[in-house]
Amino acid sequence: MKILVLGGAGYIGSHTVYSLIEQGSEVVVFDNFETGHIEAVHPEAKLYKGDLRNRAEIDEVLDKEKNIDAVIHFAANSLVGESMIKPLKYYDNNLCGTKVLLESLVEHGIKNIVFSSTAATYGEPLHTPILEDDPTNPTNCYGETKKAMERMFYWTEIAYGLKYVSLRYFNACGAHISGKIGEAHNPETHLIPIILQAANGTRDHISIFGTDYNTPDGTCIRDYIHVTDLAQAHILAVKYLLDGGKSDIFNLGNGVGFSVKEVIETARKVTGKEIKAIEEARRAGDPAVLIASSDKAKKILGWKPEYDDLSTIIKTAWKWHSTHPDGYATK
Ligand code: UFG
Repeated sequence: MKILVLGGAGYIGSHTVYSLIEQGSEVVVFDNFETGHIEAVHPEAKLYKGDLRNRAEIDEVLDKEKNIDAVIHFAANSLVGESMIKPLKYYDNNLCGTKVLLESLVEHGIKNIVFSSTAATYGEPLHTPILEDDPTNPTNCYGETKKAMERMFYWTEIAYGLKYVSLRYFNACGAHISGKIGEAHNPETHLIPIILQAANGTRDHISIFGTDYNTPDGTCIRDYIHVTDLAQAHILAVKYLLDGGKSDIFNLGNGVGFSVKEVIETARKVTGKEIKAIEEARRAGDPAVLIASSDKAKKILGWKPEYDDLSTIIKTAWKWHSTHPDGYATK
């Protein structure tokens, strides 16, 4: 397969590029490096630097690269907190970028696309686990832009026949088994990398945001899914579309929830470090429990997460964070 990966230098994008190449695909990466890292791009991928909002830059790739079987689209801003302070940045990059992309894909006759969506499309869940046809009422602008992207793809298919799969990730985490690439956001806001920064000494402590939730230990429960399992779901989704599958939306999670305190405790065991934790007030907008039902992805795409154990997930993340305390700045 020849696959164009938009945002292939980012966290989930770079892991998907590694999996694609390991499984024999030809990969073209397009990234504007606003949040991506050049060191994360697989050396065998063909790289173009460009921004989706610039029609000429994406046209150039599609003009030059013939016979692309499918596109995988990760190129977006994805921080919940930032999206509340800078909503227009999210509309501009996530929606205006996707609109320009879709115009170019339609013009170039591309027929299949798989793209990143999120659990944030659901908002406060009605029940656990969350199913794909549950109501989507995002409580933040990031989730709102992803929901709008899904609708943009829906109407584009009706008009132009471009088929899509939308993958709604729950809490992406972990790192490539080799330790060569991993999670490196700046600023970092996610739980597991922050815990491991407290373990590797680049941070003093982890703050626990809220201990008064209606959960067994009072801290929030999330469904942590390994980035390589997410990568595999993208590959399966591409194959599903190429085999004639219809456009659809799938949740991706492990179906098991862990509390913030359980994650910290597991990280202490994995790393052998004390990891100082300080209990603080709730972070605005955090639902108490988010757990996916991924039965649909398992049944229709044949997806089977390999890293379904939290210790193993944290071990892979620790391999990256213990050897790259400053992220990609550490060679
Ligand atoms: N948390 C802490 N301390 C920290 C960081 C996080 O206690 O320093 C807690 C959060 O309050 C939350 C849990 O750890 O309860 C997980 O937080 P993350 O920031 O790691 O992840 P979120 O669940 O907030 O966000 C994830 C994805 C988003 C996606 C969202 C969907 O990262 O992209 O799920 O709800 F939008």
